[in-house]
Amino acid sequence: MSKHDFCQRCPVGGSFREADQTCSVADPDDGLPLVCVGPWTGEKHARVSKYVDISRATRKKFVTGAGGATFIDVFCGPGRARIRETEQIIDGSPIIAARKAIESKTPFTEVHVADANLAFVEAVGVRLAKLGVATKAYHGPAESTVPQIVSQLGPRGLHFAFLDPYDLRSLPFNIIQALAAVQRMDMLIHVSIQDLQRNLRRYIGGDQTPLDSFAPGWRQKVEVMNSDATVRRQLFAHWLGCIRDENMRPSQGVEEVTGSRNQHLYWLVFVARHDLAIRFWEDIRSVTNQKSWDF
Ligand SMILES: C[S@@+](CC[C@H](N)C(=O)[O-])C[C@H]1O[C@@H](n2cnc3c(N)ncnc32)[C@H](O)[C@@H]1O
Repeated sequence: MSKHDFCQRCPVGGSFREADQTCSVADPDDGLPLVCVGPWTGEKHARVSKYVDISRATRKKFVTGAGGATFIDVFCGPGRARIRETEQIIDGSPIIAARKAIESKTPFTEVHVADANLAFVEAVGVRLAKLGVATKAYHGPAESTVPQIVSQLGPRGLHFAFLDPYDLRSLPFNIIQALAAVQRMDMLIHVSIQDLQRNLRRYIGGDQTPLDSFAPGWRQKVEVMNSDATVRRQLFAHWLGCIRDENMRPSQGVEEVTGSRNQHLYWLVFVARHDLAIRFWEDIRSVTNQKSWDF
């Protein structure tokens, strides 16, 4: 099955537009472009929404104080998506976070959105402006937008970054390092298990593969003669170690999101410095009966 075969079963007759990666049928509510996503997308959105909600009292202190409270989404998408093979349209992560913060009466002082796709950045900018959100939008790979965003952040503020890439190639460790340089930075990170499963041996066999930027130093820590499952676990453990080296704590509990045919899709890893942030995550991390792992 090719990547966009599901368009043939689209109830609104949409097709994938290669040029800007959007659906040919725009969002009927606002006429702006949207993307098509799998039904499991709600899993990550539910955690973003719940975290924004549970942290509202803490955020309030920063919203009313001098430091400010921001939401950062450097793989932001266009802000709206149709669930594939249905007519159902959902908000994307930056809209979900901004809306939830407004509903909880503690809107972010600023939302920073970025994406490698210019059409997405433009669409999400319009959608956030309609909500009255103070937005800064950036276009480019996260590796280049994250340093720009970090340079704009209040060093005494409270910041929540959602890192939601498709694959490991788009998640070089220097992104996490740059965000971790800010004292009060909470992060929710999507790590693609699918990529680790499909491409593990190819990555291991090559020189300079996505693993080298995702988890620098892995070659000294991972025993590649082990089974694939063990190698994946060792890689992941090494990556968590790299995060700890930045004086940040990955939460004990990692959520695994699976697809409709029970295929392993991704892990959601929460990272913070403050105990309260970790406790918040532990309270809200389980939104369905998806698997959780304690590392
Ligand atoms: C899973 S989607 C994000 C969806 C969005 N977070 C949401 O939940 O609505 C991944 C996004 O990353 C963008 N992207 C891919 N490679 C990138 C890179 N290296 N840097 C920044 N954005 C990238 C894609 O254009 C796409 O919008």
